[in-house]
Amino acid sequence: MASSTFSSLFKLSTFTLCLLVLFAPSSGQLTANFYARTCPNFRSIITRAVNTAVANEARMGASLLRLHFHDCFVNGCDASVLLDDTANFTGEKTAGPNSNSIRGFNVIDTIKTQLERQCPGVVSCADILAAAARDSVVALRGPGWNVLFGRRDSTTASLSAANSNLPSPTSSLSTLISSFSNQGFTANEMIALSGAHTIGQARCTTFRNRLYNENNINASFAAALRPNCPSSGGDNNLSPLDSTATSFDNRYFNDLINQRGLLHSDQELFNGGSADAQVRTYSSNPATFNREFASAMVKMSNLGPLTGSSGQVRTNCRRTN
Ligand code: HEM
Ligand SMILES: *[C@@H]1O[C@H](CO)[C@@H](O)[C@H](O)[C@H]1NC(C)=O
Ligand SMILES: *[C@@H]1O[C@H](CO)[C@@H](O)[C@H](O)[C@H]1NC(C)=O
Repeated sequence: MASSTFSSLFKLSTFTLCLLVLFAPSSGQLTANFYARTCPNFRSIITRAVNTAVANEARMGASLLRLHFHDCFVNGCDASVLLDDTANFTGEKTAGPNSNSIRGFNVIDTIKTQLERQCPGVVSCADILAAAARDSVVALRGPGWNVLFGRRDSTTASLSAANSNLPSPTSSLSTLISSFSNQGFTANEMIALSGAHTIGQARCTTFRNRLYNENNINASFAAALRPNCPSSGGDNNLSPLDSTATSFDNRYFNDLINQRGLLHSDQELFNGGSADAQVRTYSSNPATFNREFASAMVKMSNLGPLTGSSGQVRTNCRRTN
C-alpha cells in the first residue's frame, strides 16, 4: 500500500516536472552570464552609475526600484515603461499611476549612453532596469539578489494595461491580493514586495484622504503630516513612505503596526485582516523580510520577458530603433 502510494506520488511528481520543463515560462531563457562575451563590464557600469545617482539623491534608489516594478507589471519586464509617446502609440508615462510620478529616466539614459559606447546595441533597456533596481536596493543597504539577463525591449507600450495592472493607493486588501495574484504572486509575496515602501516618497494627492477621513491612522502622525498636505492644494508635496525612507530596512512594517502607514493601501496590510500576521513577522524579523523580498524581486524581474528574437535591443531607451 504504502509503496504503491509512494510510487504513484513519484510518477505524479515526475509528470509534473516534465510539464514544468515543457511549459516553463520564457523567463527560463534568461541567464546569469548572458553578456559574458558581448559586454563583460556591463554590471560594473550600471552599479557605478546607480551608486553615483543614489549618493547624489538617496530617493533615486527608490525611484529606480519603482520603475522596474511599473515595467514588469505591464506586459512583462520589457522596458515598455521607458517609451515616449509616438504618432503610432501612446506610451505608459501618462497612465494614472505613472503620470507626474515615475522618475529616474535620466539615470537610465546615462547608463544606456555609457553602455552604447562600450558595447553598441548589446545590453537591453529592460536588463538595465532589472540590474538598476537591485543595485538601488543594495545602495540603500538592503538585500541583494541574483539578476538573470537576456530580456529584450518591446517595440510598443500599453497605456491601458498600465492603467489596469498597476495597483492604486486606494486599493483594499482583497484588491491588492488579486492584482498581485493576476501576475502570479501569493499574498505573502505581495506583502513582501509592498515592503519596497521602506524607501521613497509619495505625493500628497496619494494620501490626502487618509489624513482627513480615515480612523486607522495614529492621530499625532496624521497631525504632523497635515501642514504639508492641506485638505486642498499642495498635491505634489512629498512625504516619506516610512520613518526611515532613505534606508532599506523593515521599519515600514513597524510603522504599519503603529498605524503609521502613509497610503491607504499600506495600512490595509495591517488592519485586522489576513495580512496582519505576516506584517508582524516582517516587523520582528528583518532577515526574513530581506530574504522574502529578494526572492519575490527575482520572480518579478522574470515576469514575461521578450527573449530570443522577439522585440529588439533599443539603442535609445525612449524610442524603438
Ligand atoms: C502593493 C501595491 C502598491 C501600491 C498601491 C503602490 C502605490 C504607490 C504610490 C501611490 C506611490 C507614491 C507615488 C507618487 O506619489 O507619485 C508609491 C511609491 C513607491 N512605490 Fe509603490 N505601490 C505598491 C507596490 C509597490 C511595489 C511592489 C514596489 C516595488 C517592488 C513599489 C515601490 C515603490 C517605491 C520605491 C516608491 C517611492 C518612489 C519614489 O520615491 O520615487 N511599490 N507606490
Ligand atoms: C509608425 O508606423 C509606421 C507604419 O508602421 C512607420 O512607418 C512609422 O515610422 C512609425 N512612426 C513612428 C514615429 O514610429
Ligand atoms: C500615536 O503615536 C504617539 C507617538 O508619537 C503615541 O504616543 C500615541 O500613543 C499613539 N496613539 C495611539 C492611539 O496609539
